[in-house]
Amino acid sequence: MTASETATVIPLDNVDPALVEALLDSAFEPERHKRTAYKVREGTDWLPGLSFAVLDADEMLVGSIQCWPVALNDPAGRAHPMIMVGPVAVMPEHQGSGYGQALVAAVIAGIDERAPLPQVMVGDPEYYGRFWGFSNERTGGWDLPGPFEKHRLLVRCANPAVLPESGMLGPWLR
Ligand SMILES: CC(C)(COP(=O)(O)OP(=O)(O)OC[C@H]1O[C@@H](n2cnc3c(N)ncnc32)[C@H](O)[C@@H]1OP(=O)(O)O)[C@@H](O)C(=O)NCCC(=O)NCCS
Repeated sequence: MTASETATVIPLDNVDPALVEALLDSAFEPERHKRTAYKVREGTDWLPGLSFAVLDADEMLVGSIQCWPVALNDPAGRAHPMIMVGPVAVMPEHQGSGYGQALVAAVIAGIDERAPLPQVMVGDPEYYGRFWGFSNERTGGWDLPGPFEKHRLLVRCANPAVLPESGMLGPWLR
């Protein structure tokens, strides 16, 4: 049985925030707060219905995923709401056991297919493309409020034709 088969995915709300911070510190570099992705969602809170933790067979926290309300603001001034996925983090010693896949799958399962918002993220296209169809094909004209690697800006959308060609991503605030 693989580690992920004995894993439990629970709402992130059920986990002590200090433990989640420690997990993120161990999966990312200490300067993670300066990442452009943090600026995109500045001032928003993660969405409790689409943010999860994964526990191992001993009920220890091994991974987390958070989603945020963001918008792509097009040149005409229209805001197109989207869900920003990430950070996705798995404890270094538990990586490669399927926990990352369990976390992203939980988010995708939580999105209502009848009225889905596009899901956007900054991540490796090989990983997120292979399992869930995230792609950089439609994001070439999109901008972020800071430096980023263009090929790592990914979107997943049931109907890509509705996506604006250009715009700036930022928090969804109203
Ligand atoms: C990226 C991350 C979330 C993946 O979670 P994970 O539990 O290690 O991955 P899984 O076990 O679900 O998936 C493993 C498979 O994905 C592949 N994979 C993992 N990370 C990958 C990456 N960055 N690029 C391409 N493939 C990757 C593995 O090679 C493996 O493939 P295989 O089954 O064919 O051998 C995790 O490694 C992590 O926390 N990394 C550090 C933080 C980070 O970079 N987060 C992503 C940006 S928000």
